[in-house]
Amino acid sequence: MKVTTIVSVSALATAALGSTFEPADFNVTKALIANGIDVAAIPELAGLVERSSLSACSIACTTLKIAFGNDSVLSEGTAAYENFTSSYWSAQQNSVDPYCIFKPSNALQVSTVVLLSRLTQCPFAVKGGHAAFAGGSSIEGGITIALEKLNEIKLSSDKKIASIGPGNRWASVYPALEQYGLEVIGGRIASVGVSGLTLGGGISHFANAYGWACDNVDSFEVVTASGIIVTASATSFSDLYWALRGGGNNFGIVTKFNMRTFVQGPMWGGQRAHVESEFDKIYTAYYNIAKDAANDTKQAQIVSFALQGGSKIAAEDLEYSDPTPWPPIFDEWKAIPAIVDGTVIANLSTMVQTLGAGTPDGIQETYWDRTFKLDRDLMKSFIDTFYEMLPAISDAADILPVLSFQAITVPAMESMQQNGGNALGLDPKKGPIFIANLAIMWSNVADNTRIMSFSNSLYESLVAIAGEKGLNNDYIYMNYASPYQDVISSYGPASKQRLEKIAGIYDPTGVFQKLQPGYFKLEGAPYGAFPA
Ligand SMILES: Cc1cc2nc3c(=O)[nH]c(=O)nc-3n(C[C@H](O)[C@H](O)[C@H](O)COP(=O)(O)OP(=O)(O)OC[C@H]3O[C@@H](n4cnc5c(N)ncnc54)[C@H](O)[C@@H]3O)c2cc1C
Ligand SMILES: *[C@@H]1O[C@H](CO)[C@@H](O)[C@H](O)[C@H]1NC(C)=O
Ligand SMILES: *[C@@H]1O[C@H](CO)[C@@H](O)[C@H](O)[C@H]1NC(C)=O
Ligand SMILES: *[C@@H]1O[C@H](CO)[C@@H](O)[C@H](O)[C@H]1NC(C)=O
Ligand SMILES: *[C@@H]1O[C@H](CO)[C@@H](O)[C@H](O)[C@H]1NC(C)=O
Ligand SMILES: *[C@@H]1O[C@H](CO)[C@@H](O)[C@H](O)[C@H]1NC(C)=O
Repeated sequence: MKVTTIVSVSALATAALGSTFEPADFNVTKALIANGIDVAAIPELAGLVERSSLSACSIACTTLKIAFGNDSVLSEGTAAYENFTSSYWSAQQNSVDPYCIFKPSNALQVSTVVLLSRLTQCPFAVKGGHAAFAGGSSIEGGITIALEKLNEIKLSSDKKIASIGPGNRWASVYPALEQYGLEVIGGRIASVGVSGLTLGGGISHFANAYGWACDNVDSFEVVTASGIIVTASATSFSDLYWALRGGGNNFGIVTKFNMRTFVQGPMWGGQRAHVESEFDKIYTAYYNIAKDAANDTKQAQIVSFALQGGSKIAAEDLEYSDPTPWPPIFDEWKAIPAIVDGTVIANLSTMVQTLGAGTPDGIQETYWDRTFKLDRDLMKSFIDTFYEMLPAISDAADILPVLSFQAITVPAMESMQQNGGNALGLDPKKGPIFIANLAIMWSNVADNTRIMSFSNSLYESLVAIAGEKGLNNDYIYMNYASPYQDVISSYGPASKQRLEKIAGIYDPTGVFQKLQPGYFKLEGAPYGAFPA
C-alpha cells in the first residue's frame, strides 16, 4: 500500500488559511491528501460509505497503521495495549478500552488523526494521564491519542522561552531547566502532565508572583479542527491564545507549549502535619496569609484536612521561592506545633518528587471542587461538615478522603491579566477566593457508587452553607472538577460566550465537542448533572 510523502506543515498551513478559518465547503478528504495521505490508495478509506462507529474506528486505526507504521498504533489484545490502558493515574480511566491507541511522532501526524476522525467519524481522546474520571483522557471504542513521543524540551537561544512538547510530565521539565538556573510555571507533582494542567489553568508554587501556568505560555502550537497547525500568541491568533488559557481541550490539540522561563534557584518548603487540637490555628493561619498575600508574593500554601487511619489530621504545604527557611510571612505557621515537618531547601525538581509520593497510580479516585469567597468561618464550617459526613464512607477499603483549600489570591488574579488575560473569568476586584477541593482515593470498585453519592452530597452541602452566608463564587477549577460539573459555565456568561464564538471560528463543525466527547465541553459537564 502506497502513501505519498508528507507535505510540509507550513505549506499545509498557508494553503488552507483563507479569510475564514475553515470555509463552509471544507473538504476533509482534500485536507488528508494535503497531509500526504493518499486516500484513494487505502481501500478502507476509499470505500468509506457506511459510518457505523465500529467500522469507522477500524478504518481509522488501519489507516494510521498504513500511514505511520504498525509501531505507532497499539491494538486491543496486545501486551503493549494492555500495559498502556493500565497505566493511567485513576483506576476509572484504566477501565476504558479504546479501539486503538495512536502515538503520533509530530504535529502533522496529529493533524492527520484529527482529519481521519472527521472523515470516519471515529471519536478520539487525548491522553496526558491524570484526569480522575473515565473518559477524561481515554475513550471507549475510539482512538486514544497518546502524545508521549512529543517530548521535546528546548530552550530558545536567549533562554527566555522553553518549548515543551505536550507529552512531557513536570518530572522531566524541571531538571532540564534547572541546569540553567531557570524554571517555568507548572505543576507541583512530578507525574502530572504538562498539557492538561496548563490548558485548565495550572496552579504552581509561584502563582502569587506570576499567575497560573496558562498565563505564562508565550505561545501554543496547536492543531485545529481542520488539521491546520497554527501558533497562537498574544499577537497572532490572539483569540485562540486567550481561549487556550483555561479553555481545556475544546479548541485543538496542542503540540507545543512555548513557555516563558524565569530565573529560579533552590527554594524552601515542604509538608507539615498536625493533630486535631491545632485545627483552629491552622485554618486561621491559612486565611490570614491568603488574605494578605500581597505582603509577600514569594509564598505559597495549601492546607488539607484528612482522615487517615481513623485520625483527623491536617497538613499544609508551605513554599517560599527563596532558599530562606521560615520567612516572616509564615510566622503564624511556625508557631503551630507539628507532628511531621518535611520542610527543606531544595530545587523544585526534588520538591515535586516528595509531594508526589502520596499519589500512587491505579486506584479509584474522585476529585470535586468549587470556589468560595475567602472567609475564615466558612473554612471552619466546611471542615466540620466534612468530618460530620465522612462516617458514611469511612469504612471503605483503603480510603483516603481529603478536603484541601487553595486560595486564589488577589496578586495571583492580577497576574492572570497579563497579555490579554485568560478565559477563567476571574476579577481581582472580587478576590480573594479559595478553592475547596474534595479528593478521595479508595481501592474497591464496589464502593464507587456510595463514594460518588457522598461526594455529591458533601459538595451540595458546602454550596448550601456558603449560600446562607452569601459567600458562594461561581468559578469551578477545571483540573479538580468532577465529571458532573459544568466548568465552562462557571467562568461566567461573558467568558463562555466568547469561548463559543472562538470555537465557532476555529472549529465551526464542533469536532472537539462531538468527536472528542470526554472532559469539560462548552455545552456542559461530560457526564451531565449528577443522577438524582
Ligand atoms: C496527584 C495530582 C497532582 C496534581 N497537582 C496539580 C497542581 O499542582 N496544579 C494544578 O493546577 N493541578 C494539579 N492537578 C490537577 C491536574 O492539573 C489535572 O489532573 C490535569 O487534568 C492533568 O493533566 P494531564 O495532562 O496529566 O491529564 P489528562 O487527563 O491527560 O488531561 C486532561 C485533559 O486535557 C486534555 N489534553 C491533554 N493533552 C492535551 C493536548 N496536548 N491538547 C489538548 N488537550 C489535551 C485531555 O484530553 C484531557 O481531556 C493534580 C492532579 C493530580 C491527580
Ligand atoms: C473532496 O475532495 C476529494 C478529493 O479531491 C474529491 O474526490 C471529492 O469529490 C471532494 N468532495 C466534495 C464534497 O467536494
Ligand atoms: C503491519 O501489520 C499488518 C497486520 O498485522 C501486517 O500484515 C504487516 O505486514 C505489518 N507491517 C509491517 C511493516 O510490519
Ligand atoms: C508499560 O508502561 C510503562 C508506563 O507507561 C512504560 O514505562 C513501560 O515501558 C511499558 N512496558 C511495555 C512492555 O510496553
Ligand atoms: C539545584 O540544581 C542545580 C542544577 O542542577 C544544582 O547545581 C544544585 O546543587 C541543586 N541544589 C540543590 C539544593 O539541590
Ligand atoms: C501584612 O502586612 C500588614 C501591614 O504591615 C500587617 O498588618 C499584617 O499582619 C501582615 N500579614 C501577614 C499575614 O503577615
